[in-house]
Amino acid sequence: MARGLLDIESLSREEIDALLSRSKEFQPAPGQSFRRFDTLRGRTVVNLFFEASTRTRTSFEIAAKRLGADTLSITAAASSVSKGESLVDTLNTLGAMRPDAIVMRHAASGAPHFLSRFLPIPIVNAGDGTHEHPTQALLDARTILDRKSVLGGLRVAIIGDIAHSRVARSNVFLLSKFGVEIVLCGPPTLLPREMAQIASGVHLTNNIEEAIAGVDVIMMLRVQLERQHEPAFSANEYFRFYGLRPEHIQLAKDDVIVMHPGPINRGREISSEVADSQRSTILNQVENGIAVRMAVLERVFAQ
Ligand code: CP
Repeated sequence: MARGLLDIESLSREEIDALLSRSKEFQPAPGQSFRRFDTLRGRTVVNLFFEASTRTRTSFEIAAKRLGADTLSITAAASSVSKGESLVDTLNTLGAMRPDAIVMRHAASGAPHFLSRFLPIPIVNAGDGTHEHPTQALLDARTILDRKSVLGGLRVAIIGDIAHSRVARSNVFLLSKFGVEIVLCGPPTLLPREMAQIASGVHLTNNIEEAIAGVDVIMMLRVQLERQHEPAFSANEYFRFYGLRPEHIQLAKDDVIVMHPGPINRGREISSEVADSQRSTILNQVENGIAVRMAVLERVFAQ
């Protein structure tokens, strides 16, 4: 593995397996809290978020603290970025304070890769533009494995704003390495034809019923309005054609699970009945975010 964690695409299946196995060991027993470790005592992890986040920023902070590290969270609005400081200058400034690792989210695809070439500090990608969100794919895989035991042979439908989704790309890279059959579904404007070529076992459809038929996992995506210049649909129109509703669930396998990386928009991409149903793993995904990020941080410091 390269220093830090920049993407899923460049990880081997063995490296992913090791992270998923280790994250299982970090999962708390039912009703218990996450255990505390001393592994990263004396280390400082800086969370640098140039885009909004609830789940990723908080769970990285909890994960680092559970491993004994000191943490510091900086958001763009509360930093000198709001006074015009460039990304490189901001990172060099933080680098001069000698943190031991930087977890960063940025609106520009490739920003963490670019900075990792300049800074002698491991960088963990917490989401870069429309490119990748590696720890989201890892926690999604952990959540699927908790319910299905193996990934190989599963059929997974990823539905929504594929064009702007770093979650979709990271999941496609990860799941395809394990022999998962992947159906990508969305309106033509949000489903680039090139997505069929980024990995093996990927099929495209614009029809949600066709996408869901016989699947083991339905993964819904948020419509990324912040990355669309002129949204082509109202919330009602989008929900009519691509919103997940109870009648869709009947088309999938009996034990289908419904996933969503969050934040969810009820009544746009998913109905409340489905989001709050027994099929939904949305909060399991959030919880697994801590265990997976503990495994990632531990691995980063072991490199
Ligand atoms: N899934 C995810 O990345 O959520 P946040 O934007 O809240 O971190």
